[in-house]
Amino acid sequence: MPDTAPRTPVNRVDGRLKVTGGARYAADQLDDRPVHGYLLLSTVGRGSVRAMDVAAAERSPGVLAVFTPARPLRLLGRGNAFLIGHDWLPLQDAEVRYHGQVIGLVVAETFEQARDAAALVGVEYAARPPAASFPDGIARATDPGRVNGEPSVLSLLADGVGSIDEALATSAVTVSATYTQPIKHHNAMEPHATVAVWRDGDLTVYHGTQSASLTAGALATALGVEPARVRVVSPHVGGGFGNKIPTWAHPLLAAAAARELGRPVKVVLTREQTFTVTGHRSAVRQTVTLGAHRDGRLVAVRHEAYASQSSSGGTFEASPHTTSRYLYRSENIHLSQRIVTLDVPPPTWMRAPGQESGSFGLETALDELAAELGVDPVTLRMTNYATVYAGRGVPWSSKHLDECYRVGARRFGWSRREAAPRRVTDGEWLVGMGMATAAYPAERFAASVRVRFAADGRATVSSATADLGTGMWTVLAVLGAEALGLPLDRVRPELGDSTLAPNIGAFGSGATASTGPAVTAAAEAAKAELLRLAVTHERSPLYGADPAAVRYDGGRLVGPERRIGFAELLGALGLAGVEATGSAAPGPEAGRYAFTSFGAHFCEVRVNRFTGEPRVTRMTTVVDGGAIVNPKTARGQIVGGVIFGLGQALLEGSHVEPETGRIANANLADYLLPVNADVPPVDVHFLDFPDTLFNPMGARGIGELGTVGAAAAIGNAIYNATGRRVRDLPITLDKLL
Ligand code: MOS
Repeated sequence: MPDTAPRTPVNRVDGRLKVTGGARYAADQLDDRPVHGYLLLSTVGRGSVRAMDVAAAERSPGVLAVFTPARPLRLLGRGNAFLIGHDWLPLQDAEVRYHGQVIGLVVAETFEQARDAAALVGVEYAARPPAASFPDGIARATDPGRVNGEPSVLSLLADGVGSIDEALATSAVTVSATYTQPIKHHNAMEPHATVAVWRDGDLTVYHGTQSASLTAGALATALGVEPARVRVVSPHVGGGFGNKIPTWAHPLLAAAAARELGRPVKVVLTREQTFTVTGHRSAVRQTVTLGAHRDGRLVAVRHEAYASQSSSGGTFEASPHTTSRYLYRSENIHLSQRIVTLDVPPPTWMRAPGQESGSFGLETALDELAAELGVDPVTLRMTNYATVYAGRGVPWSSKHLDECYRVGARRFGWSRREAAPRRVTDGEWLVGMGMATAAYPAERFAASVRVRFAADGRATVSSATADLGTGMWTVLAVLGAEALGLPLDRVRPELGDSTLAPNIGAFGSGATASTGPAVTAAAEAAKAELLRLAVTHERSPLYGADPAAVRYDGGRLVGPERRIGFAELLGALGLAGVEATGSAAPGPEAGRYAFTSFGAHFCEVRVNRFTGEPRVTRMTTVVDGGAIVNPKTARGQIVGGVIFGLGQALLEGSHVEPETGRIANANLADYLLPVNADVPPVDVHFLDFPDTLFNPMGARGIGELGTVGAAAAIGNAIYNATGRRVRDLPITLDKLL
């Protein structure tokens, strides 16, 4: 039986490196004295490049080359959403698909020289007006066909019910509302950056990525080199949130330019460039219609959404299929997803892709229904508690959402909430409380880990996964220490390198749940190898012992007569180390259960009665995520997710100029993100129900969960405070006046 007792909080093992500046991010890689590439971006929203005058730029001090569609770097294949975020490759044609598209790369000895030379390039366009308005595009929305592996229009109807509208018509009470939100950008603190170095036909790329192996694969294909000759190194990543899954234009161009020039090339995007060279979250317009019996039991859930998509490919935000699909028990469920194709940069996955927007729609609609029925919002959710996954008939492997509601309500003081809005004031502030459900699927991927016992008495635990601030360095160390029975400081974690044991990386909140079981497998394999050597190697102090009588215990090999530490054994054998690889993957359990992490948010807000200013004053989030490997970094994940939701609710939005397709606020002065002054105390509480049907560790994912429902909880609290239901995000003060 695995030991799934609650674990103690552990400080980040990479924390000291980070706060002392010792952690090297991609752009910090200067050993190879790279030259610098600066991207040239289109300044029209659609059309083509007719001519580029690069003469002045080429004469500019320090310039080595100016690459353009007329002097392209050769790239092979074609983009796709998973490997490359868009369906085209940079500089291979003169087409301009959107404002801010890569149309050139200037390489110079210094960054400043490259940037200054880029300003000297004259570009002549054949421009056409872009289709860049999401509201205007609704009328010509199209059907994406399938969403999340299911039909884009999906009806789960009770026997004898002909349509969702029929079910709604027979409902005693219905509410229906439309919710909108603008596109949003990930804005990871670390901008996207690459340093590409060739040595004897081998390519090493230092690149901030959530998946060193996917990046290596994309580079190998685009550059036409053997996958084994490409190494991607990414030990530290300053936030990804999904946007560092695809391999965007800059690493492809950096690597191709480095090959052509015979010099290492570094490309760091400016903040503004990250808005169009990399991805974003779709704009969403969704209508949720709920039909219920008087007692609150749902008769029908209809969830219809439009999401913006790019004419250059990418992924889109799938709101209904990730939320209303399964979250509540309803006799009838109808989902519909349509997409609005625009001449904008390609959207990509962004933390809780689908759930972020979908939960705002569904969880706000439930609050509207609760108000209409005069039922407490927690009671309404318990009334419609789902115990089987709709349409699949399978139960959850472990679901304690009811406990999240109970514990959260108690910790938060939900019983003090006034049901009617505008009842509680504090001076000039209106005070309100709101809540919402969080849910995110628990994902698990195949993963491998290598464990190496080293002669210095430490053990290395390595895998090609990533730590994008999520705590994976520490999780590897904690799980390695547990599996090997060693103190934490005798375990050396290694990650962020495509040449380590295969691992698809960190996304879908699945890194811990995928990698953890492989740590156990690798540790067992390495121990077995150690034991084998101990009894078969003639220089071993345990040579000749009955293998059945020797066991591994806390870094020692314990035989009938004597015990010996692994460092001592390796010393006696003259070996630097002993290692083994272990792998783990999901099994047949996947067909028998639904796997989902759950949570409940409770929120208190204050809204200024004169200025409309909304402030979140406290939040309680209770999480049912299975066993928690490190409560300290896990708490950081949930708080970070809640802050993501706070940005969604109150601050964030990218403004696309409809006439030009330009993103007007592509900087951190005009794109508002939550700062510490916006963030209230967040009380995070983890339930302790290890989910051993999901994996032997009992740990599900929690990286995205905290975002789901957070914005709805805030909006619902604002309604409770003010009586105003703002359905268009972000909820800025002008909408509350
Ligand atoms: Mo996540 S949006 O899978 O990084």
